[in-house]
Amino acid sequence: MAAVRLGPRQRPPGHPDVLSPVFWLHDRVVLLDQRRLPHEEVWTGYDDADDIVRAIREMEVRGAPAIGCAGAFAVALMARLGLPSVELRRRMRAIVEARPTAANLAVAVHRMANALTMERDPVVEAQLIWKEDLAACREIGNRGAALLPAEGTILTHCNAGGLATAGYGTALGIVRAAVAAGKRISVLCDETRPWLQGARLTTWELAQDGIPVEVIIDGAAAHFLSRGEIAAVVVGADRIARNGDVANKIGTVGLAAAASTFGVPFYVAAPQTTVDRSTENGAEIPIELRDVEEVASIEGRRVLPDGVGARNPVFDVTPARLVTAVVTDTGVWTAPYAF
Ligand code: MRU
Repeated sequence: MAAVRLGPRQRPPGHPDVLSPVFWLHDRVVLLDQRRLPHEEVWTGYDDADDIVRAIREMEVRGAPAIGCAGAFAVALMARLGLPSVELRRRMRAIVEARPTAANLAVAVHRMANALTMERDPVVEAQLIWKEDLAACREIGNRGAALLPAEGTILTHCNAGGLATAGYGTALGIVRAAVAAGKRISVLCDETRPWLQGARLTTWELAQDGIPVEVIIDGAAAHFLSRGEIAAVVVGADRIARNGDVANKIGTVGLAAAASTFGVPFYVAAPQTTVDRSTENGAEIPIELRDVEEVASIEGRRVLPDGVGARNPVFDVTPARLVTAVVTDTGVWTAPYAF
């Protein structure tokens, strides 16, 4: 059946107050098209798993925990097709490969594979993954809020908010919980080239909550850190190795190095599902390489001279020594890490 375009302001059933970019509604997977924000709020209901895999690959849904939920729902849709198990496994591998750095995607798909083996209801299992992520984000928020001062500016990178998770967010969950606790927090956000998740998404969701936010170009972050204007840097993560090395949006390691140079605390916020205990250190984390046209062009117009190439790794690894603490739903972790 064809995808169905839905009305604005969709909310997950039973969670009228939660902005979630991905959820299950009446036998379909609902996605908010994040490529079209902030100008257009387009929600689509899909009942074909291939559409979800394409949406993950093409950034219609993005952010490690959110694509974990999307991947789980994709498996739930696939499970209806009655495919031979070899074909089902091949398709599950294709979901994981759609965005190879995000630990949450692989964790969610493996959990769904186990659920199918154990003959548990795949829709119930996927919805459980979604619910657990939302609960984890709220817990991260509560734990992390205590680390922020009563008043100050937080610097963040990319979008680690409700739009990147089942809802509420990780780094932005901490900001939300701090504001809810009465702290006077404002946010400075890197625009985050080339997809502009900071400029388009972090601003969009914080503005809806009335949390003050301003955007800077990526290259301005060290400038603001050097002037003592930033109380703390708070970012999300796509995968955290056992030793505390953190893979996150490209640009994060530079931010961490600048924060360390200027004595500003650097916090990483992520659910436990982002911690990959099978990965010893950051060198083992696969870094997704995307089409260089994302760098070479701006809004569809090529900005490089003819014949000049580009490179587009979309994540980098911040060594554990540059991280002040990792906030997960189970605790505030510092080196030596024992997640
Ligand atoms: O390429 P994206 O937009 O999926 O990258 C997102 C990030 O790097 C986020 O910081 C990360 O996934 C954590 S989201 C809670």
